[in-house]
Amino acid sequence: MGKKLYIETVGCQMNVLDSELVVGSLRRQGYELTHDADDADVILFNTCSVREHAEEKIYSALGRLRGHKRRHPEKVLGVLGCMAQKDQKKILRRAPHVDIVCGTGQLGKLPELIDQVRQGAGPQLALSLARHEASRLEVEHSFESYDPMRDPSMRPSPFQAYVRVQIGCDKFCTYCVVPSTRGPEQSRPPQHIAAEVRQLAAEGCKEVTLLGQTVNSYEYDLGDRRERLSDLLARIHDTPGLERIKFVTNFPRDMGNDLLDAVRELPKVCKYLHVPAQSGDNEVLKRMKRLYTVEYYREMLARCRERVPGVAVSSDFIVGFCGETEEQFQRSCDLVREAGFKNSFIFKYSPRPGTKADDLYPDDVPEEIKKRRNNDLLSIQGGVSLADHRRLVGCTVEVLVEGLSKAALKTSGTPGPRQLTGRTMTDHIVVFEGNERLVGRTVVVHVREASPFTLYGDVVTGEQVGAEVEEPTRLDSPEREEQGKRFALPLI
Ligand code: 5AD
Ligand code: SF4
Repeated sequence: MGKKLYIETVGCQMNVLDSELVVGSLRRQGYELTHDADDADVILFNTCSVREHAEEKIYSALGRLRGHKRRHPEKVLGVLGCMAQKDQKKILRRAPHVDIVCGTGQLGKLPELIDQVRQGAGPQLALSLARHEASRLEVEHSFESYDPMRDPSMRPSPFQAYVRVQIGCDKFCTYCVVPSTRGPEQSRPPQHIAAEVRQLAAEGCKEVTLLGQTVNSYEYDLGDRRERLSDLLARIHDTPGLERIKFVTNFPRDMGNDLLDAVRELPKVCKYLHVPAQSGDNEVLKRMKRLYTVEYYREMLARCRERVPGVAVSSDFIVGFCGETEEQFQRSCDLVREAGFKNSFIFKYSPRPGTKADDLYPDDVPEEIKKRRNNDLLSIQGGVSLADHRRLVGCTVEVLVEGLSKAALKTSGTPGPRQLTGRTMTDHIVVFEGNERLVGRTVVVHVREASPFTLYGDVVTGEQVGAEVEEPTRLDSPEREEQGKRFALPLI
């Protein structure tokens, strides 16, 4: 009888990809996936540390499994990812029934760790060295030994895949835990990335999303020259079978003209940029150590729009960061009003132990005010999004059909045309009626109606149509929340 694996994933796309790789490696050991934790021989949580709330949810889930583990001591319980790397032994103190604590850079060791627990070796910890101690070799090893092991069944869909091009982050924004949980920034050799993309496309994958915490700072030394993200996009562009290329997340300071030119010139590259601003106020940006001013951000945005006509831009904001006054918050509101973001992901500041902000600045904005600012900014962005969506009514757009819509999923099994959902080349969500066999195909849709989150339309033709299609400029798609479960939230 095959052993059963249950895995729960929270956090960003990087975690979704890590889970895919974990499942791939365990399948090769004879495991099959189950959606019922009670039924599983191995229960894994792939965790996120970006905000406290995500961590507390995992500790609660672990608490709920205490009785189950007491009744079934042979079952293996593991905590993976950022929280494992950050909290280390603290996890065993708070949840002594956990068997494995495995950090982001160590996931390749998981089959071995599970075997050791099964053989009675007791709790296993596999953690990367602190970033100042980690050698480049260790990092590269965890990259290359691991990423090629793909499991198509764990992808967001059979025709979409994430491809890691970079790990870690060197920016050290003062609020952010990622540089310590994911380690130093390392770019992956472009030849390896191209080979992985070729393999994915040969398996039927039509869209790849290149992942990096600051993906636009990708740079790999090839000896005679340095390959940048713009070169990498050109390198993979002509991969047979590949239709779309996306990349997330961008750091504003690293948005070079070479990259913008590549986005404009390469037809398979989606005209969509996620470039988090985080705040519209210079003093707050300085305390966040974002390394740019709001004036720079505005200029960068103008440059994106000038160099890539019709590009859609989305952003992230943190509200209630240490010391944020009402006036400073209003400057974020002004930026959202003016910038025309397709959508913004808005977060209440959550102090993270070990970060500079937590050491230096008191978390002095009361929760009630954070909540109110969060709602205010959401509602301003909602208005911007709706106006932009409305501009698209009457246009035709090219949509890669991703699957059944949320509503259609609830009524699955019903015969006849279904409500389908997909995305345009500018990452806008479009919902329309069609046959389920359109899933995975690119269709042309005439936009009939708009909400702040979604475009609604009718299929013009099931075949892909090229150049004459009018592409949207800026829109919103916070339905991403729902997509979040499949595609995860913005990358951090
Ligand atoms: N508190 C709140 N939001 C945070 N983010 C990162 N760290 C924190 C924190 N400590 C947000 C940033 C980032 C997004 C993925 O998460 O906006 O871009
Ligand atoms: Fe790096 Fe992004 Fe975190 Fe800043 S917010 S430290 S750029 S991962």
